[in-house]
Amino acid sequence: MWKGRFQQETSQLVQAYGESVSFDWRLYDQDIRGSIAHAGGLLRAGILTQEEFDAIRSGLEEIRHEIEHGDFEFKTALEDVHMNIEAELTRRIGPAGAKLHTARSRNDQVATDVRLYCKDAAAMLQADARQLQRALIEAAERAADAVVPGYTHLQRGQPVLFAHHLLAYVEMLERDLGRLRDAAQRADVMPLGSGALAGSTIILDREAVAKKLGFSAVTQNTMDAVSDRDFIAELLFTIALCGVHLSRLSEDIILWSSAEFGFVTLSDAHTTGSSLMPQKKNPDVAELTRGKTGRLIGNLVALLTLIKGLPMTYNRDLQEDKEPLFDTVDTLLGSLRAFADMMPHVQPKKERMRAAAIQGFSTATDLADYLVRKGLPFRDAHEVVGKAVALGVESERDLSEMSLKELQGFSAVIENDVFDCLTLEGSVAARNHQGGTAPEQVLKQAANARKLLQS
Ligand code: ARG
Repeated sequence: MWKGRFQQETSQLVQAYGESVSFDWRLYDQDIRGSIAHAGGLLRAGILTQEEFDAIRSGLEEIRHEIEHGDFEFKTALEDVHMNIEAELTRRIGPAGAKLHTARSRNDQVATDVRLYCKDAAAMLQADARQLQRALIEAAERAADAVVPGYTHLQRGQPVLFAHHLLAYVEMLERDLGRLRDAAQRADVMPLGSGALAGSTIILDREAVAKKLGFSAVTQNTMDAVSDRDFIAELLFTIALCGVHLSRLSEDIILWSSAEFGFVTLSDAHTTGSSLMPQKKNPDVAELTRGKTGRLIGNLVALLTLIKGLPMTYNRDLQEDKEPLFDTVDTLLGSLRAFADMMPHVQPKKERMRAAAIQGFSTATDLADYLVRKGLPFRDAHEVVGKAVALGVESERDLSEMSLKELQGFSAVIENDVFDCLTLEGSVAARNHQGGTAPEQVLKQAANARKLLQS
C-alpha cells in the first residue's frame, strides 16, 4: 500500500508484530458500510462515475457475503481489515477499487468503524441487560412475600422481602442502561472526512455521508476526530460498572447457595460438581462472573493508560484499543446471558430465609420506632431496646418471645400492641413508603420495573 516510498519489504517479524487483522477482522461489516457510504460521497463529488460506484458497492457486498460464509481469506501481510478488504476489492474490480481511498485515511476510517461497532455493541448490551432485568423481576414476583434478613456489614440488620433485594439489582441495571445509552450517543458522531489529521482538499458532503451511515452528527475538529477514543473509554467504564454490579449479585448468589445461608438452590444446569468431592454443587456461573469482572476493570485501565501519553494526533498505539474493547463487550454479553439463563431456576428456600430473618433481633429497630411513637426520644428508645436485646442474648430468646411484663420492665410505655411490630410480617409491612420493603411497595416497584422493560 505504500510501495512508492519504500525499497525494502516489511520484515516478517514486524508484519507479525504489527498486524491487527487477526482481531480487527471483526470490523468487516462496519468497514464495508463505511466504504460504501464514503464511495457515495465520492460519487456526489464527481470523483467516481456511477459505474465505478456500482462496481465498488457490489464488490464490497460480495466480499461481505464471503466473509460471512467463511470463504474470505484474510492475509496478515495486508496488516488490517481495512487494507485486506480494499486490496481484495481492487484485485476484483480494478481501477475503481483504487479510487476508493480518495479523501480518506485509515485514521478516519478506523475511527469511524470503531464508532459504528460501539453503537452496535451498546444496542446489543442494552437488549441483554433488559433480558436480565426481566429475569430478576420474574424471580422477585415468584418470591412473593418471602422474608429474608437484610444485612449491613454482612450482619443481620432488618427483615426485608427477598423480592426487594432482587429488585435492587433491577435498579442498578437501569442505571447501567442509561449509561449505555449515553455511551452510544457519544459514539454517534462521524469522523470520516477528517483524513489523516488535517482534512482533505477534496471536499465531500460529510453530512450526507453521516446520514447514510446512521450517524447523528459529524466531528468538528479533524485532529481530535482521528485521535479521540473517549467514546471507547466511556463504553468500557459503563461495562465495567455493570460488571461490578453483576459481580455483587454473584457474591449474593454464592453466599445464598452455601450451606451456611441455604437461602436458595441452584439448578444442576447452572452448577458443576467436583471431580473429587462427590457431594459438591458449585455456583460456577456466579463465580466466573465475579472473576471476569477483573478483566472488565483491567481493560478500562489498559485503555486509559494507552491514551494518556499520546501526542496529537493518530499514533499507532491506538491499534491497541480494539482487543480490550472486543473482550469487554464479549465478556459482558456472556455474563448477562448466563445470568438471565440462570435466574429463572434460582429456587428460594422460604423456610430457611424466614428462620434466619427471625434470628438476630432483626426487629429491634421496630421496637425502638414503636417507643418513639409512644413518645420516647429516639436515643432513649435505642438504649431501652439495647437492654432488652442484652436480656435476649443472655436468655437465648428473641424479643417477640419475651412476655409483656418483661418488656414493660424496660419501659412502662410498652403495651400489648407491641407484638404487632415484633413479627416479621409486621416489621416489613410497616415500611410502607416509596422505596420501602412493605409488600405493597415492593409490588409497586416490580410493576414499575416491568413498565421499563417496554422502553
Ligand atoms: N490498524 C490500524 C489501527 O487499528 C488502522 C490505522 C492505521 N493507520 C496508520 N496510519 N498506520 O489503528
